[in-house]
Amino acid sequence: MSMKPGAIEYPPKTEDIIPMDFKSVWEAMEDCQRKGLTKSIGVSNFTPKKLDQILACATIPPAVNQVELNPYWQQKKLRDYCKANGITVAAFSPLGAAGTSWGSSRVMESEVLNDIAKAKGKSVAQVCLRWEYEQGVAIVAKSYNKERMKQNLEIFDWGLNEEETKKIGEIPQSRVHLGEEFISVTGPFKTVEELWDGEL
Ligand SMILES: NC(=O)c1ccc[n+]([C@@H]2O[C@H](COP(=O)([O-])OP(=O)(O)OC[C@H]3O[C@@H](n4cnc5c(N)ncnc54)[C@H](OP(=O)(O)O)[C@@H]3O)[C@@H](O)[C@H]2O)c1
Repeated sequence: MSMKPGAIEYPPKTEDIIPMDFKSVWEAMEDCQRKGLTKSIGVSNFTPKKLDQILACATIPPAVNQVELNPYWQQKKLRDYCKANGITVAAFSPLGAAGTSWGSSRVMESEVLNDIAKAKGKSVAQVCLRWEYEQGVAIVAKSYNKERMKQNLEIFDWGLNEEETKKIGEIPQSRVHLGEEFISVTGPFKTVEELWDGEL
């Protein structure tokens, strides 16, 4: 969605949320890249249906789509779509964003992930990030803690086995970041289903 011009507030005032004109916004972004103002352009929180709309008018396709992605919302359909169209998928909330207004502790408290972590002598965060790395997605993990930042980078010299990958693959799926703050009867998205094109 787009916002009316002016000061940016979060959560947004519902009357400030307006439909996005994908074609003109994307053309302006392409212009930024052509002028060398940015190396690459991309999108965030786009479903396959919304990516279709961008690709229908793009002369430069999005380099990346940053979306909620972790073992509890694996985004298989979107990943297949992006792979087929040469778009890198980047995972936000890769650890589930525990303790935030948009996340949940279900990833860090996961029995499946805790069992694998114990068996491998790794932390749950490391198992989680390693799984995401093995799925071929870029990862945007956030930590303000030096030790945890270091720990989150120590995932490149070991791997998950087939059984562990299978167990993670069987975790029941649901989106946590619903974006309810962007839903209103007067705005472009009247229901959560509409916002995510039914991908919940
Ligand atoms: N595009 C979008 O719509 C969107 C939406 C949400 C988030 N994002 C972006 O995605 C990035 C990351 O996502 P996120 O912050 O939502 O969630 P996240 O990276 O999954 O989780 C961050 C939380 O995990 C903790 N943490 C980090 N490493 C840890 C470790 N090794 N062990 C235990 N806890 C650990 C952090 O605490 P400490 O800091 O105390 O370590 C923090 O509380 C952020 O830069 C955010 O801006 C984008």
